[in-house]
Amino acid sequence: MRLPVVAGSSVLLTGCSLSGTLAPRGTDARIAADIWWFMLALGGVIFVGWLALFVVAMVRRPKGEVDESHERRLHRRFIVGGGIVLPSIVFASLFVIDLLGIAAMQQTDDEVVVDATGYQFWWEFAYVQPDLVTANELYIPTGTDVQVRLHTADVIHSFWVPQLSGKRDMIPGRTNALTLHATEPGRYLGECAEFCGVQHANMRFEVVAVPPAEYQQWLDDMLEPAAEPRTASQQRGYDTFMSSSCAACHAIRGTPADGQLGPALTHFASRRWLGSGAAPNDRGHLGGWVVNPQSIKPGSTMPPVEIAAEDLPALLDYLESLE
Ligand code: CUA
Repeated sequence: MRLPVVAGSSVLLTGCSLSGTLAPRGTDARIAADIWWFMLALGGVIFVGWLALFVVAMVRRPKGEVDESHERRLHRRFIVGGGIVLPSIVFASLFVIDLLGIAAMQQTDDEVVVDATGYQFWWEFAYVQPDLVTANELYIPTGTDVQVRLHTADVIHSFWVPQLSGKRDMIPGRTNALTLHATEPGRYLGECAEFCGVQHANMRFEVVAVPPAEYQQWLDDMLEPAAEPRTASQQRGYDTFMSSSCAACHAIRGTPADGQLGPALTHFASRRWLGSGAAPNDRGHLGGWVVNPQSIKPGSTMPPVEIAAEDLPALLDYLESLE
């Protein structure tokens, strides 16, 4: 179903933000946006009609003798027509349009399947084929139906990428699903849309939609084991990581680090953000994050890491080498 969309209006209505539901770049989001515009137009027409009737009622003066029974008939017609028939038609059509929209959203091929798990307060993305686990950045091929199966490790979260699809809850003990189908390459902001604790507002992720060939290249890169330490400093950072509490919570494929409590770090340096969107992934923030995550993201489950001050630059060198 395709309904007309007024070009450019979304920019106006969403203010300076172009990442909202009114700038859809995915098929499901497009359907939702079209329904929204249709409802706005219909509501506008009804509102203008109502205003016109209101003005008529204010200025209308009966001429000469009032025919009581004619007036009563007229009133009844307005009450029945405008109060029962018209709303019934409007609501019934909106209901049908909604159902058609939902049906259109459910037609999917699901060529790529990803298990997304919400944690307080970050996201894990596990690709089913090939077997690959990443965090906080979800790469998808454009022009492809990607089924995202939604799970939670703790409380209820809600998976929402406004430009690509509707939002859907991640509920303990059950699996929901939705489909992402990006029509254009780009980075799309995703966020948790269900209050889940103190860092609910810092539970963001990015969906990175790239052309299929680039997606394949990304998969190949991600399937490589982590980069080996190449300098003495990186080696020292590696040793620090493996002998500290880091390795108990984080996994780095190809190394003894196999913790499952925090995000996988195999290709950590390729990510743009730290702490699920809490800070940019640069050396300064990373140092602060490792030493005291609570100063950047109070309430996050990562405890401060006790490492010797002289080991910190080496640890950062190692983490930054994990491209
Ligand atoms: Cu997770 Cu809000």
